[in-house]
Amino acid sequence: MPASAREMASVPAPRRIFDARVCRPMDGLSTSLWGLSLRNPIIIAPSPPTAHASGIIAADRAGAGAVITKSVGPHTERPTPGTDRRQVRYVPGTGIWMQSTYRREILPLAEGRELLLSVKPRVAIPVIGSVFCPSFDPVEWTRVAGALAEAGADAIHLDLFYLPLEPPLAAAGDGLRSLFNAVVADVHVPVVVKLNIHLDLAGVVRICEETGVRGLAYLDSARLGNPRSEHDPASYLLPGPPSEMCGLAGEWLRPMTMAYTDRLQQLTHLERCAGGGLFDSHDALEALLRGAHAIQLCTALLVRGWGVVREILDGLKSYLIRTEGGSLTDLREECRLARTSPLVGRVQRVPGVCVQCGRCEAQFMCRARAGSAECESCGFCVELCPVGAVLPR
Ligand SMILES: Cc1cc2nc3c(=O)[nH]c(=O)nc-3n(C[C@H](O)[C@H](O)[C@H](O)COP(=O)(O)O)c2cc1C
Ligand code: SF4
Ligand code: SF4
Repeated sequence: MPASAREMASVPAPRRIFDARVCRPMDGLSTSLWGLSLRNPIIIAPSPPTAHASGIIAADRAGAGAVITKSVGPHTERPTPGTDRRQVRYVPGTGIWMQSTYRREILPLAEGRELLLSVKPRVAIPVIGSVFCPSFDPVEWTRVAGALAEAGADAIHLDLFYLPLEPPLAAAGDGLRSLFNAVVADVHVPVVVKLNIHLDLAGVVRICEETGVRGLAYLDSARLGNPRSEHDPASYLLPGPPSEMCGLAGEWLRPMTMAYTDRLQQLTHLERCAGGGLFDSHDALEALLRGAHAIQLCTALLVRGWGVVREILDGLKSYLIRTEGGSLTDLREECRLARTSPLVGRVQRVPGVCVQCGRCEAQFMCRARAGSAECESCGFCVELCPVGAVLPR
């Protein structure tokens, strides 16, 4: 006998265990970061694709866990075409060299606001608004951050790339403190800070902790001089003199990203998103097992396209299956605890990642196998392993 409409209405609705658009707890990859629910820990870093709605929608479709917009500033319009030069070269194995200007790079406020308003109703993943202002003026930073938060940004990301913050921090530290204080007090969403290699790391992290900043993203591109051309040593890779400031992102940053991951793990409890030179699932896994709460991609995406997101997700899932690990969060915690054990300072071979190729036994530096009792942990095998299974601890 079919149930009457009244009976049907009295049946309690099935309990909603999770929001399938936002998180899928069963695959072990869902996580929380900076107070946001992420379906996985892969974040698309501020980059050309996150400067427009179609790129952010594509990131959602490609399976990313969250997106950070291209940085937005207080200015009202883009420079007239042709007045601000932009030059970009990709050198495989090194990364992307860029010459640009603040006004050419950073989105005007109205454009950033529009971007968030148009994209937020169309994607399921968190969209974090990135802010950059060319001075330490807290009023400017809060004006831009407030506008992005009001337009729907799920968190605010403070980009410090062009600010003069070389150590020692001294007076600039006071400027940073008042701008962090002002933004944290003014916006109703979490505020996170982007680190670069030119900062006094411990000093900036301390200011973040003291001002209520919720988390850290790293690494930004490095600021370097114009390099010599590989093909013609008499000339330079990019136009302009050797002193011309260039940004370098990509592969070259990877060892520093790992070193910062280790250092930040010791330095702070703020949640951290690691990036800089991460290209595949082994890079991602290494950063996550070394203590990062999420990872971010820029150069890999620009060079390899959206498929890189799925490839990394598949790699992370198969790692969890191979190791019979419950979730990445549990594994990260296990690794963190292992660091306080007698294994500190030792080279480790990660069993689920090792494909038994034998290279770390065949080397002639010693007669041990990486991570074995005989291994002296000199570190030589770390780069020899083709799949990133040998980790320095
Ligand atoms: C073309 C380009 C544009 C970028 N724009 C921004 C930006 O607007 N704001 C920001 O915080 N970082 C920006 N970045 C830095 C990236 O978000 C990332 O931190 C850096 O490239 C290192 O990561 P990767 O090695 O994966 O590229 C940009 C990088 C590139 C290559
Ligand atoms: S080199 Fe790497 S993959 Fe090969 S046996 Fe050693 S740890 Fe395993
Ligand atoms: S890390 Fe150094 S000591 Fe350990 S197996 Fe490799 S070469 Fe030998």
